[in-house]
Amino acid sequence: MLETTGLEGRSFLDIGSGSGLFSLAARRLGARVHSFDYDPDSVACARELRREYFPGDQEWTIEEGSALDQNYIKSLGHFDVVYSWGVLHHTGEMWRALENAVLPVAPCGRLFLAIYNDMGSQSARWRWVKKTYNHLPRLLKTPFALVVMAPEEAKAMLRSVVTLNPGEYVKSWTRYDQNRGMSRWRDIIDWVGGYPYEVAKPEEIFDFYRAHGFALTLKSGDAVWNGRW
Ligand SMILES: C[S@@+](CC[C@H](N)C(=O)[O-])C[C@H]1O[C@@H](n2cnc3c(N)ncnc32)[C@H](O)[C@@H]1O
Repeated sequence: MLETTGLEGRSFLDIGSGSGLFSLAARRLGARVHSFDYDPDSVACARELRREYFPGDQEWTIEEGSALDQNYIKSLGHFDVVYSWGVLHHTGEMWRALENAVLPVAPCGRLFLAIYNDMGSQSARWRWVKKTYNHLPRLLKTPFALVVMAPEEAKAMLRSVVTLNPGEYVKSWTRYDQNRGMSRWRDIIDWVGGYPYEVAKPEEIFDFYRAHGFALTLKSGDAVWNGRW
């Protein structure tokens, strides 16, 4: 997406770095990386990755911080690439987080975001599901997730039976973690329980960043924001 095979000499800010996997990729490409996440367990996971692949590295900082904390973000300075993949819609104040993400982008830098698409009533339904899951007592969470996912699962199972390929459905559970790095059930809980959850239409994001002096770079149907100057 960045149309480069290396990031040597570039600085890279990973907002909501989660496991640290993308920070690791950026570091491997040669960038000086700063990763932060609101969640202490995610920070610990990213640090574990750094310990394994870049022990004692001075060019990769990992710390706790919030995308909603304007003072913290200002204190970080400017970066050539500001990257936030699937994060700002989970902060509870997406538009404030989107605004804060402008602050660390260096002149001529790039901002690279992933935000849930606004699918209208479908998004509203998922918002309700996620909010409800989080408010349920622990004992009811699993049955609720099962009920929510049952229609999709039934469809997938039926499809594999009708196409005389029931093994396909079985594999979708037993081999799932080979590509996804987590079990299918974990992924379902991650999705059903992923709240706060906000969405935006692509044009809303485009207009918002245009108003902040960014220009949109389109590549293979995807969007990258080229920095302000
Ligand atoms: C879906 S995960 C994405 C993680 C990572 N970017 C990736 O793509 O693998 C969302 C992450 O956003 C983090 N997050 C949520 N609210 C945040 C906030 N206010 N500031 C920083 N990170 C936050 C969560 O802790 C979680 O690690």
